[in-house]
Amino acid sequence: MREPKLPSVYHLVSLDCVDSTNEEAKRLAALGEDETPDGTLVWAKEQTAGRGRRGRKWSSPPGNLYCSLVLRPEVSAGKASELSFIAALALFDALGTVGEPGHQVFCKWPNDILLNERKVAGILLEAETSGSGNPDWVVLGLGVNVAVFPADTEFEATSFRAENWGATEVDCLEAFARHFLSWTNKWLEEGFEPVRKNWLWRSIGQGKEIEVHLENETLTGIFTDLDETGALLLKTDEGERKITAGDVFFPKA
Ligand code: BTN
Repeated sequence: MREPKLPSVYHLVSLDCVDSTNEEAKRLAALGEDETPDGTLVWAKEQTAGRGRRGRKWSSPPGNLYCSLVLRPEVSAGKASELSFIAALALFDALGTVGEPGHQVFCKWPNDILLNERKVAGILLEAETSGSGNPDWVVLGLGVNVAVFPADTEFEATSFRAENWGATEVDCLEAFARHFLSWTNKWLEEGFEPVRKNWLWRSIGQGKEIEVHLENETLTGIFTDLDETGALLLKTDEGERKITAGDVFFPKA
């Protein structure tokens, strides 16, 4: 496997195997900015304890992409959470760069990427804020099913290979890194609005009935919009709900 060629703002830490690139990135981030600057990118070929959102396991055999980026943005913790939408946009655009034509790629709220209606990639954003100011660090983890995908997921999954895409995890990482840099620059210059709009253009389900699985309930309603913080707005029979965490499903017709 060749080493990725990345823009010079990234500092690559390349590992054969690790528990979780998010955990490793957090350990490195805690060493401080001099040791682990903004742009440190932990990439592993395999994870033994990969984690997904909401405490789920992330299946991590060799062949897929597992990486986590340490960021030190000079913005509030609330604003830093917008980075997960930037990552979703960058992943979507990366799939446009490395993928084959004639396939459907969509962003699914909050930050999954679907390929031909199945989940091909997920994003896990974690942050630590010790004082009252900006976060000390943000860790943005990406998992992309390149070679294989798990069979036992609540939302059906797929991989590049299953869809006959030949791109490797290195191709995908390189494309992601370039797109992430340009989307981050746009966000720093113009704020969240262009990110929100571009995410919506690339998303699935807006204007349609969706189900949202929350911790203790399932809501059904029309996905009307994203608000100015990235929360999903759902029009239900009982009125509008603003959702900040949950899993979206599409009811079968
Ligand atoms: C999700 O959709 O639930 C998010 C999945 C995030 C998985 C990636 S793989 C690299 C990084 N390390 C982890 O343990 N998780 C993230």
